[in-house]
Amino acid sequence: MYDINKIHDYVYKEFDIRLNAYKSVQMNRRIESFISKLGFNTSDDFIKKCKFDKKINEDFLDLITINVTEFFRNPDVFFKIDELIKKHLPKRDTYRIWSSACSNGSEPYSVAMILENINIANYEILATDIDRKMLNYAENGIYTKDEIVNVPLDYLEKYFDMSQDKFKIKDFIKNKIKFRKHDLILEYFPSNFDLILCRNVVIYFTKDEKIKIYNKFYDSLNDQGIVFIGATENIYDYKQVGFNKLGTFFYQKVVK
Ligand SMILES: C[S@@+](CC[C@H](N)C(=O)[O-])C[C@H]1O[C@@H](n2cnc3c(N)ncnc32)[C@H](O)[C@@H]1O
Repeated sequence: MYDINKIHDYVYKEFDIRLNAYKSVQMNRRIESFISKLGFNTSDDFIKKCKFDKKINEDFLDLITINVTEFFRNPDVFFKIDELIKKHLPKRDTYRIWSSACSNGSEPYSVAMILENINIANYEILATDIDRKMLNYAENGIYTKDEIVNVPLDYLEKYFDMSQDKFKIKDFIKNKIKFRKHDLILEYFPSNFDLILCRNVVIYFTKDEKIKIYNKFYDSLNDQGIVFIGATENIYDYKQVGFNKLGTFFYQKVVK
């Protein structure tokens, strides 16, 4: 019904997102349903509207990027990070961590809190996402009551400044995290990381893109570095990439 190629072109020009790297059936279905709910009959009408209506354009970007997240997402697994670092990573002067699709910042802040809680203060976190709006939110570090429901009470007291219904990440944590725009599909990967989180984003990508990304993570890791993936994900060909499986959702770089 809609000319999906025109919409893909618009998304590339407007947001710099290459949609043919995403699973097309799911993505196109979501886009079409979004456009039809708004009452547009053609792709041209929808694109014209987007160009003039900031709100619709932003909602459309949200639909494409799917930025759902939460603090300590899948807590049973997430809280294993401390054990993992202590047991499997070589001692470092500074631990370098990359949260590679960080959405509103809950993920990198969760890692930071876990590290602080076990008295590891020598770390720096790079937190990246394709969505600048999310990065601005993350950089602000101010969350609502609903957003912090997963945060344990002692963490709230130690790592947040609380005022009425706002919860602000303390500066000493914020200062250790750099937020940057980065596209996992289109851009070069930074390197020298001990831990990379890539959770709940590659599920939207094609198989080829996933393989490319995991191979690039291999190169981005220091020796014995670890990749932490989402709770519904799996690196099927991890041995071929050069990883050893440390546990469900954790893979360690084996030096080739
Ligand atoms: C579902 S959220 C996951 C957030 C967090 N990692 C978690 O597990 O809670 C997916 C995030 O991936 C980002 N994203 C989508 N495509 C991306 C790409 N090509 N490169 C980098 N980030 C991307 C979205 O903007 C969104 O914030």
